[in-house]
Amino acid sequence: MTENKIRRIGVMTSGGDAPGMNAAIRAVVRSGLYHGFEVYGIQRGYEGLLDGGISEMNNHSVSNIINRGGTILKTARSKVFNTPDGVQRGKAMAEIFRLDAIVVIGGDGSFRGARDLHRVGVPVIGIPATIDNDIGCSDYTIGYDTAMNTVKEAIDRIKDTAYSHERCSVVEVMGRNAGFIAINCGIAGGAEACIIPEKEFDVGEDIIKPILSCRNAGKNHYIVINAEGVGGTMEIAEQIRQKTGISTNTTILGHLQRGGSPTVRDRVAASLMGAKATQLLSQGIYGRVVAMKGEGVVDYDIEAALEMKKEIDEHLIHTSKILSLY
Ligand code: F6P
Repeated sequence: MTENKIRRIGVMTSGGDAPGMNAAIRAVVRSGLYHGFEVYGIQRGYEGLLDGGISEMNNHSVSNIINRGGTILKTARSKVFNTPDGVQRGKAMAEIFRLDAIVVIGGDGSFRGARDLHRVGVPVIGIPATIDNDIGCSDYTIGYDTAMNTVKEAIDRIKDTAYSHERCSVVEVMGRNAGFIAINCGIAGGAEACIIPEKEFDVGEDIIKPILSCRNAGKNHYIVINAEGVGGTMEIAEQIRQKTGISTNTTILGHLQRGGSPTVRDRVAASLMGAKATQLLSQGIYGRVVAMKGEGVVDYDIEAALEMKKEIDEHLIHTSKILSLY
């Protein structure tokens, strides 16, 4: 057996923060130390890799963080790193700090950065973390469950006031170009209509019609979920107002969806994937992305992982329509 040359590893969070990133950092640090690695925290994602914002972590540095949203390592979307020169500078800094491998916790943009480092010979492992759940290789991404629970709570509150005033509320949820949060929260929030980027829609057919058929059956409060990737939330509300005469307001939930204490599901997924990352490194395996497949943790070649696609289940879309009937 060849000797494992990995002794010292770096860990970073990159891209949009997601609840559970801290649980993943904790898992990488503690399981990394368990495997005998020295573990270094890289601040502000690839920005910290470029400017040497790198310092050693120990078991105590990750104490009392599993319950906290955000990321203690901070995060950024680095434009500078996203160039061939940036990648070479990142590699050079990894060599200065003698990092033998880097664990990147983040979304698809962060994984592209990790792949670029991998291509220039820096050993990497990716851990999927984004509230959008839009990483093709993983059934589940860290932060998704917490964000959905936050959205569900917001819809419940909006529903109380929509019911009392007999109004329609159009709620815009995050997800970038993906509708995973929207479709699931549409079902969980009992929405009359749910619009996602993956599915073409017609305002008359898919929004006005279900609202009017509910009204004709005696209902007088309505929730419409619109995914941010669709956009035009104000215009949709205006059309509802004009075509139905129903008092209609809008709520764009925005960044409140990214904060908050992570749910059990996010903490456990983050812990399992963080531990898997260092287990792979302890076996001298890198250039991988760890991922959830059902309840289990798997890993894929990073190049292949970035090519993988994940669709929204048609059955979810169909069911959301059936269940909005009144
Ligand atoms: O990827 C997570 C996410 O919250 C998306 O849902 C959203 O489109 C984007 O990040 C917002 O990014 P920023 O925080 O940079 O405005």
